[in-house]
Amino acid sequence: MRVLVSGGAGYIGSHTVIRLADAGHDVVVVDDFSNAKPTVVGRLEALTGRPVTVHSFDLTDVDKTEHLFSHEPIDAVIHFAGFKAVGESVTKPLDYYQNNLDSTFSLLRAMGRHDVRTLVFSSSATVYGAEPSLPMTEDLPTSATNPYGWTKVMIEQILTDVAASDDRWRIAALRYFNPVGAHASGDIGEDPSGIPNNLMPFVAQVAVGRREKLSVFGDDYDTPDGTGVRDYIHVDDLAAGHVAALDRISHADDPMSIWNLGTGQGVSVLQVIQAFERASGRPIPYEIAPRRPGDIAASYADPTKANTELGWRATKTIDDMCADTWRWQSKNPNGYPDA
Ligand SMILES: NC(=O)c1ccc[n+]([C@@H]2O[C@H](COP(=O)([O-])OP(=O)(O)OC[C@H]3O[C@@H](n4cnc5c(N)ncnc54)[C@H](O)[C@@H]3O)[C@@H](O)[C@H]2O)c1
Repeated sequence: MRVLVSGGAGYIGSHTVIRLADAGHDVVVVDDFSNAKPTVVGRLEALTGRPVTVHSFDLTDVDKTEHLFSHEPIDAVIHFAGFKAVGESVTKPLDYYQNNLDSTFSLLRAMGRHDVRTLVFSSSATVYGAEPSLPMTEDLPTSATNPYGWTKVMIEQILTDVAASDDRWRIAALRYFNPVGAHASGDIGEDPSGIPNNLMPFVAQVAVGRREKLSVFGDDYDTPDGTGVRDYIHVDDLAAGHVAALDRISHADDPMSIWNLGTGQGVSVLQVIQAFERASGRPIPYEIAPRRPGDIAASYADPTKANTELGWRATKTIDDMCADTWRWQSKNPNGYPDA
């Protein structure tokens, strides 16, 4: 298939571009580089051994999106593009609603006009809201605790309605748990701008000496060691899940499908720190800080539905995730170069 990857220069999109190319698909990327560096493209070309077609524009631009579909043959879309920082979404809600919803509208309209009806969407475990029962199964009610999360809940609803309106659509929403890690080459990885919002890139920056110490937000949760528990999934396993979902919906009868992509294993903040110390051979100094508002004690998937229906399973351990993050961070202490 010829697959349009929106947000393909970003963290998860770039790893998925490699997996798609490995599976024999042709890839076209659209990204406005609002949260990615153009130098990722050369690395993708080196790793895939072929040129990567990139269109650089903002998908909320309806005319440019239409122009893309008029000039590129596309069979399917994987839609990663969007803003993703939870804290920023609280201070800039309109930016989040506008970017995440408008880019999706723009894509769906162009897809419908050009009879491209196969779509895989990046959703998130955040749609399980503030007090999910564990492990999380796809049939739990959805909710959110911040504007970013609401964009995911809303887009899932929009996609469900679009799929119900015309049974030629084949749409999958993939609910990611906590993506971490990097490509085994160490040449592509997560490169947050500014202070990292997520644990693993922060730990990696402490290990490499870019930051002095880590703050652990809360050690009095109802978890085995008191720190927050999450379901970390290697980004390469996640990327493979997209290829499996694309394959499945291309051959399935259901217009709309939802799958959790997680390992099913909960790992605490202190366990991540210990695993990273093993992987890097460096100490990770940390201090205990107050809980952050909105954080939940524990989050982990029941991945059974994806395991059985997609024939997909996360294979990498927390030690693999830390080893690959460390390889990326130590080869690229300041992330991607500007040019
Ligand atoms: N990383 C996570 O922890 C996580 C967890 C759950 C879900 N997700 C979702 O997965 C998707 C990808 O996440 P990521 O971590 O790779 O993020 P990322 O920021 O690295 O990638 C997103 C890419 O989209 C681009 N982009 C943003 N708005 C755009 C627009 N209007 N037009 C064109 N390009 C645009 C950015 O430049 C960036 O390259 C996002 O939708 C995110 O919400 C991420």
